[in-house]
Amino acid sequence: MAEKRNITRLIFSISSLVDLGQEVTSAKSFNERMKTALYVVTGMFSVPKAALLVYNSNQQRLKLLTHKGLKDTTWGNIHVKAKHIKSFSKNEPYSLSKIKTNFLYNPNTEALEKFHTKTFIPLFAKDEFVGAICLGKRLSRPSYLRSEKNVLKVVANQIAITLHNSSLFRRLTNKVNENKKLYENMRHIYNDTIKAFAAAIDAKDVYTKNHSFRVAKYAVAIAGELGWKEKDVEAIYVAGLLHDIGKITIDRGVINKGEDLSVSELSEIKRHPQISYDILSKINFPWKDLVHFVKHHHERIDGRGYPDSLQGEELSDGVKILAIADAFDAMTTDRPYRKKLSLTEALHEVKKCLGTQFDRRISNVFFRVLQKEIKGETKEAQILPHLDKGFNPTVITSLLETITAELSA
Ligand SMILES: [Fe+2]
Repeated sequence: MAEKRNITRLIFSISSLVDLGQEVTSAKSFNERMKTALYVVTGMFSVPKAALLVYNSNQQRLKLLTHKGLKDTTWGNIHVKAKHIKSFSKNEPYSLSKIKTNFLYNPNTEALEKFHTKTFIPLFAKDEFVGAICLGKRLSRPSYLRSEKNVLKVVANQIAITLHNSSLFRRLTNKVNENKKLYENMRHIYNDTIKAFAAAIDAKDVYTKNHSFRVAKYAVAIAGELGWKEKDVEAIYVAGLLHDIGKITIDRGVINKGEDLSVSELSEIKRHPQISYDILSKINFPWKDLVHFVKHHHERIDGRGYPDSLQGEELSDGVKILAIADAFDAMTTDRPYRKKLSLTEALHEVKKCLGTQFDRRISNVFFRVLQKEIKGETKEAQILPHLDKGFNPTVITSLLETITAELSA
């Protein structure tokens, strides 16, 4: 008879352990999983009141994670010192009296008594104290048989591992979040540094204040319309900001002279894309194409540009974008040798230079972006805010429609 009872108990314990195993590995939230695990344990041993506590090693305190049958959960946290942790047997059930006399202080035992703790199990995973299970009075026999204590140890071990893994995961998530914040801060510093560089470049040329910022914005607008990936858009943005960095080494008098440049002065100015490249290629940017965009921003489709006289499809899309963004801004701002063009004049000028200076496809995208911005169809206008407001939107829209229709034909 006793043997049959033992077998029935064994089968019950095994099936409960299987339940527990499934619960702690289920897809539920961590708190839900731990609550269900505690319910499985209390069901196994007929305990109506119980609590699962998690250990915070920084505060050296056990805190309530989840419970069963407790009305009052306002009791304080339980202070557990390192020396007590050392003397605990791992995942071993302790009677309350033993815990009271050997390990915990009075205020702590009061907290344990509030929910009638009769058995206290310190939870360990990989030698780390991670929490505790407090079991109340059993409805069946008050004490635990040796075999039941063994099952309790197995259960405690499983819960301890789950707690440990979750705390590892939490620590890892915190670390990832910390790194993310650090990375964001670095990015801000990085962006500010690049902008400061761009401001320094623009400051050298009295006529081109904020030129680099506008070129960067126009280039972003075109790349965005082309459906470029975020990282590539960033590359063209920074390329726009830094494309003229080489001008820093060129004499201010030559840069601001404008008209009547001597042959040597002109060739001096024409050196700036190569110098920009030389400077920037020493920096380990996260965008490998950036220096290429910068080096070739004065190339032309017909091969009459510089420094390498690239032509046609030798020019990458990034180069074509930067070329039109740069030239369009030059047309729509005052220069030492001429007044700025009106928007209508600038658009006609771009149109005139299609297939010679500018790529037709990329220019068409540029026209389309401008059209969308005028119609208010973009989330944030990148070009329009920098243009003179004196144009007639209806006239410009109709001009753009005509040009884009011709280009698409
Ligand atoms: Fe340039």
